[in-house]
Amino acid sequence: MKPNDPAVGHPGSQSAGRNPKPEGRGPWRQAAARWAGLACLVATAQFCPAFAESDAGEAVFTPSNPPALTVIKSHHTPAYAAAKLFLRGANLGDYLEAPRRWRQVQVAAGEFAQMKKEGFDHVRVPVGWHQYAGPGPDYKLEPGIFDLVDFVVTNALQNQLAVMINIHHFNALDQDPAAATPEFLALWKQVAAHYQKFPRQLAFELDNEPHENASTALMNPIYAQAIAAIRQTNPRRTLFVEPGGWGSIGELKNLVLPPDDNIIVSVHCYDPFYFTHQGATWTSGQTPVTGIIFPGPPPQPLVPDPKLELKNYQLDWLKKYNTLPTDQNPSSPLAFTGKIRYIRAWSDYYGRPVHLGEFGAFTKADEQSRANFYSAFRRAAEENHIGWCIWDWSAGFKYWDKARQQPMPGMHEALFGKN
Ligand code: BGC
Repeated sequence: MKPNDPAVGHPGSQSAGRNPKPEGRGPWRQAAARWAGLACLVATAQFCPAFAESDAGEAVFTPSNPPALTVIKSHHTPAYAAAKLFLRGANLGDYLEAPRRWRQVQVAAGEFAQMKKEGFDHVRVPVGWHQYAGPGPDYKLEPGIFDLVDFVVTNALQNQLAVMINIHHFNALDQDPAAATPEFLALWKQVAAHYQKFPRQLAFELDNEPHENASTALMNPIYAQAIAAIRQTNPRRTLFVEPGGWGSIGELKNLVLPPDDNIIVSVHCYDPFYFTHQGATWTSGQTPVTGIIFPGPPPQPLVPDPKLELKNYQLDWLKKYNTLPTDQNPSSPLAFTGKIRYIRAWSDYYGRPVHLGEFGAFTKADEQSRANFYSAFRRAAEENHIGWCIWDWSAGFKYWDKARQQPMPGMHEALFGKN
């Protein structure tokens, strides 16, 4: 069945109890997995059955945001100019957002030159600033975190890469947005003051993937306060803002932004979720089946291990995957092309450039399928003139194979090839 609005069809993707914690064995990851299990009891009951129906995402755009979201008529704004700097990016995942004791990825200065050489034009840097904040009311940041972020930002800029820093995994804000607002604002005031003299190629993204209680409606006024605070020191800085539901495309319709012409909206899309997150440990048991190819159908039907005790919605998805031709298959571009067209229409109507800040496939998927997926997704984004940023540079969804000092098989062609 085709939903006529991605907001309806989307929940089974990243918004359905996705717990965005990187793969790993540390206690942080185990605790995260336990937490995710609890979250999914709720999420699964509410959302997952719809997942089986969310394959197409074919969307008819009808403007429906609250009237408070003003339409910016001109497309010659600072935001549109800045969007041209953020067309082909990589996320520096599992680095500065990971708790310091379990940080697995290290980044060397030479990697930024390599990113540029590969063809990327920007890098998105997730940062767990809150982990380095002292007690309220000041929430003073340790100087050490600025040293780490400065290293990334200056190396990126020196290599002619635009760079975006954010606040990532700030769970207190997701759990209780009102209670965490003073800290959110204090963090941004300090970060903004520190970087106020940096060039326009540096942008701030206010919050990664608001979810749980951080609904779009609740985040709208919190974003407005943060934007006002940042504007005191950075009147011309480009800002990125994500809607709720894990930065979901379906949540664009609830977004309200101040009439500021230097804001880019950013959304995330991990569809088809069963393919992109196969074998991931942080999806609350939604994606245990591995061996899913892209695009489907597989040459031989994939028969899941009965020990996985899949739910009906998961079995239903697999049945479609095993039987439907590629142009109707849930593991195909059908899972995201309609949604990307919806973004284009929303963006054009409201005069707000949109960026696809995260998409990607876990390395549990086979190499050819990963390359097929990244290629199809980035082409769909480019056909719709939307900047994209892969998850991720060198962690669990990697582009760059540090051990061999080269891209993962097929990935360079997938992202930068002619087709
Ligand atoms: C999270 C990562 C996760 C990725 C894919 C990102 O938003 O920050 O931890 O690996 O999504 O699920």
